[in-house]
Amino acid sequence: MQVAFVQMEPRFGYPEANLEKVLAMMESKPAELYVLPELFASGYVFISPDEVAKAADKVGDGLVYRTIADFAKARKCAVIYGFPEKASEGYFNSSLFVDEFGNHKLYRKIHLFFEEKQYFLPGNSPLGTIAYRDTKLGMMICFDWIFPETARCLALAGADIICHPVNLVMSYCQDSMKTRSIENRIFTITANRIGEEKRGDKGFKFTGKSQITDCEGNVIYRADVDKEEIFTADINIEDARNKRVNDLNDLFGDRRVEYYNRLGETIDGIHQ
Ligand code: ACM
Repeated sequence: MQVAFVQMEPRFGYPEANLEKVLAMMESKPAELYVLPELFASGYVFISPDEVAKAADKVGDGLVYRTIADFAKARKCAVIYGFPEKASEGYFNSSLFVDEFGNHKLYRKIHLFFEEKQYFLPGNSPLGTIAYRDTKLGMMICFDWIFPETARCLALAGADIICHPVNLVMSYCQDSMKTRSIENRIFTITANRIGEEKRGDKGFKFTGKSQITDCEGNVIYRADVDKEEIFTADINIEDARNKRVNDLNDLFGDRRVEYYNRLGETIDGIHQ
C-alpha cells in the first residue's frame, strides 16, 4: 500500500488557506492513504471556548470534511485528518477517516494533553479498526502515544498501521513510536505540524520530524524539524500480520494476561 504523511504549518484561524496548502501537497504525490496532522485546518492554540466553537465541524459536514471527501473521491484514496469536532454533548479533539466511497469513521482523542482539557471533552471512542482495501487501520491522536495501551489495543484489534495525526510539542514521541512498532509489529505513520503558534500569552513550538516506521521499529523516513513536506512510502501490509519474533516467540501468543491482572498482589503473597 502506498501511504503518505503531510507535514505542514497551519495558520491559526485560516482553514481555507490551510486546506488549499494541504490539497496542493497531496495532489503533488499520489498515494492510497494520506495522514494529515491533528487540528490541521484550525490551528492548535485555542484561547477561548468561542474559538473552538467557531472552528469546529460536525462529523460529515463543513468545509474541511467536504473538501477532503471530494479529494478522496476524485483521487480514489483515503485521508485521515485531525479536526475540532462539534458533537451534541460538546467538543472533541477528533480524527476522521474518509475514503473514495464516502465512508467516514471517527476517533475522539482519549488522552487529552495539557490545556486541551479546558476546551475538549475526553474522547469516548472504542479503539477499533477500519478496513480499507486489504488493510486494517487504527487511529490515535498525538498524546495517546505516551499511553502504550492505546497502540497495544489497536494492534490487538488487528490494526496493521497506526495512523497518528499529531501536534507534538515534546521531543520524545518520534523515538517512542519506534518502540510502539517493535512491541506490536505494526507500521506507524506520525503526521506532525511545524512552526511556532503564539496566541496572547500562550504558545507552542512544534517539533516536526513526521515519520513512518516499519514493523521492526526502523524509521523508513523522518522529515525535518521545520520544513513542510509530503512523503510517500510503499509498505507491505503482510509484514504486520506476522507477530513472530523467532521460531519460539509470538508477540501476541506469548502474552500472559492472567499475570497482567494481578497488580494488587504482593510478592510475599505469591511465595506463601
Ligand atoms: C498533543 O497531544 N497535541 C501534544
